[in-house]
Amino acid sequence: MKREGFFITLEGGDGSGKTTILGRVAAYLQNHSMPYIITREPGGIEIAEKIRSIILDPAHTAMDARTEALLYAAARSQHLAEVVEPALEQGITVLCDRFVDSSLVYQGVARGLGIEAVREINRFATGGRMPDLTFYLDVDPEVGLSRINANQSREVNRLDLESLEFHRKVKAGYEQVIAAEKQRIVVLDANRPVHMVEQELVQVLKDRILKDF
Ligand code: TMP
Repeated sequence: MKREGFFITLEGGDGSGKTTILGRVAAYLQNHSMPYIITREPGGIEIAEKIRSIILDPAHTAMDARTEALLYAAARSQHLAEVVEPALEQGITVLCDRFVDSSLVYQGVARGLGIEAVREINRFATGGRMPDLTFYLDVDPEVGLSRINANQSREVNRLDLESLEFHRKVKAGYEQVIAAEKQRIVVLDANRPVHMVEQELVQVLKDRILKDF
């Protein structure tokens, strides 16, 4: 019987280069004739994209942290049901820009709701589905923010308007989440130029994914 597809996620602070790196991973899988889809959270499909626009609307400054956490979990649940689970079932690898770890870090730590409370609502939303492998692009908040500011074509969302202090909390949050899951989450130093990050990432893909394909 054909095995399930691999579920690979990318995590990182804002401006860590996730989108660029995701494109490189996709190209690598394509060169190895590995079927894949590329998607993102919050979003990926109509219902979840609509939830995304509510969450990230710069006008929604009144949004309560719990509301935010529940909306992310709602978008995640729909995205899993419509996109991720059907693909994995067909043996297709899913590359996803952000997943539960983002909620644990942004809502659990940076917004202060607590990792366990956020894990709990996400357990309900995901039915316990977790990635096989996660790459965390570790970038200094100052570097991340300067990249965001230099990229004029990027959408400016509500979270981009957060302070440097918030982004520092995000980094500390990732460190906390990673410490508990060193096997699943691979840390890549994303302060370096993209080609260096990519080289290291490809080596991990060879060792952890392609050997089983
Ligand atoms: P993006 O810029 O990587 O597309 O992500 C949009 C923003 O949403 C980013 O600032 C991180 C945030 N986010 C959360 O706060 N919680 C979540 O669960 C997810 C998926 C994203």
